[in-house]
Amino acid sequence: MRSTNATYANLPTTIFETMSRLARHYDAVNLGQGFPDDKGPLDVLQQAANQLLEGSNQYPPMLGIPALRQAVAQHAQRFYGLEVDWQSETLVTSGATEALAAAIFALVEPGDEVVLIEPFYDAYLPLVQRAGATPRFVSLKPPYWRLERADLAAAFSSRTKAVIVNNPMNPTGRVFSTTELDLLAEFATGADAFVIADEVYEHLVFDGASHRSLLSVTGLRDRVIKIGSAGKTFSLTGWKVGYVTAHPTLINLLGKAHQFLTFTTPPNLQAAVAFGLNKQISYFKDLAGDMQRRRDRFVSGLTALGLAPLLCEGTYFANIDITALGADDDEAFCRKLVEERGVAAIPVSAFYRAAPVRSVIRFCFAKQDVVLDAALERLASLRQG
Ligand SMILES: Cc1ncc(COP(=O)(O)O)c(C=O)c1O
Repeated sequence: MRSTNATYANLPTTIFETMSRLARHYDAVNLGQGFPDDKGPLDVLQQAANQLLEGSNQYPPMLGIPALRQAVAQHAQRFYGLEVDWQSETLVTSGATEALAAAIFALVEPGDEVVLIEPFYDAYLPLVQRAGATPRFVSLKPPYWRLERADLAAAFSSRTKAVIVNNPMNPTGRVFSTTELDLLAEFATGADAFVIADEVYEHLVFDGASHRSLLSVTGLRDRVIKIGSAGKTFSLTGWKVGYVTAHPTLINLLGKAHQFLTFTTPPNLQAAVAFGLNKQISYFKDLAGDMQRRRDRFVSGLTALGLAPLLCEGTYFANIDITALGADDDEAFCRKLVEERGVAAIPVSAFYRAAPVRSVIRFCFAKQDVVLDAALERLASLRQG
C-alpha cells in the first residue's frame, strides 16, 4: 500500500485505550477515563429531547444557532465581566476538540512554531503536527507544576505563532495563578502569538476560587481563542458541543476552518446547551461543589492510605506520586495496578513528549461514591506492597 500520512500512521494505540481494555479484562474499577458517571442535568436533557421532536433537524447556521451564541456571549459577561458581541465573536463547534482543530488549522502555517505546555491533552500534538508546525515544549514538573519564566523564555521565539494553554489543567489538576497567567501574557504578547485557551474545565474550580479566563487577562483580549465545552459544564461528554469566544477576525477565520471540518453541530443539542448556559448561577456553583465533594472523598481516602496525593485545584483528576511506593515507571505501575489490584489509572508520562515525568499517575474522581469507595478499598493494600 502507498505510504499514508505520517502524523496519523505513526500514532500508537493510546494508553487510554489500552487501560480501558485492561480494565474490562480484569473487571477493574475504571478511574482511567475522564468522564463523569452520572446522568447530567435532567432539565437540559429534557430540552434536548423536546427540541429533537419539536424543533428543526435540518442544517442549523454554520456558526451556531443564535440562542446558543447569545448564551455564550452572556456567559462571558456573567462570569468574566466581558462584553462579547454574539454575532461576530462567538462560534459553536462539535466539541472543544473541533474548536482546537479549527483554531490550529486556521491560524498556523507550515514552518510556524506552537508552544505546548506538557503534560498536555493528547489531541494537541497531532493537530499541530498535521498543520505542519513545529511544537516547542514547556515541561511542568510535580509536585507544583508551575509555569516558570526560564522555561517559557526557552520555548518562545520570533517564530512562535501560538501557544496552547489548558487551564484548569488536565491531567495536573492545576489552576494557574494570576502571576503565571500574566507571565504567559507577557510571552504571548512579546512574540505576537495567539493564545489558544482550552478552558473546558472553567466551572470545575474548587475551594472557593474562581476561574480567570485568559480572555480577561490584560493585553490578551484580541489574541485569545477561548474554548469551552458543554461536555464538562453539563457532565454530558458524549454530546460534543463546544463554543469559542474570540475577536471577530479570529472567529471569521475559525469559521472558515469549521465549515469544512463539521460545518455544524446537532441543533437540538445546541438549543439544550443554550438553555443550560442560561441557568442560574447556583447550577454552576453546585457543579463545582459536587465535584469538590468527590475530590475530597477520594483525596482524603488516598491520604488515609498514605498514597501521597498531589494538590488538586480543579478538573476531574487527582494524582499520586508513586515514588513513595518505591516505583519509578508509571506505565508499568498502572499495568500492575489494573492486573493485580483491579483499579485502572493513567500514567502521566502519556501526556508528555519532550521530558516525561514517570513518577505520577492520574485518577478520575468524577464518579459515584460507591465507585470511589470501591477503588479506595482495592488500593488499601498498596502501601503494604
Ligand atoms: C483538556 C481537554 N480539552 C479538550 C477536551 C475535549 O472536549 P470535548 O469533548 O468537548 O471535545 C478534553 C476532554 O477530556 C480535555 O480534557
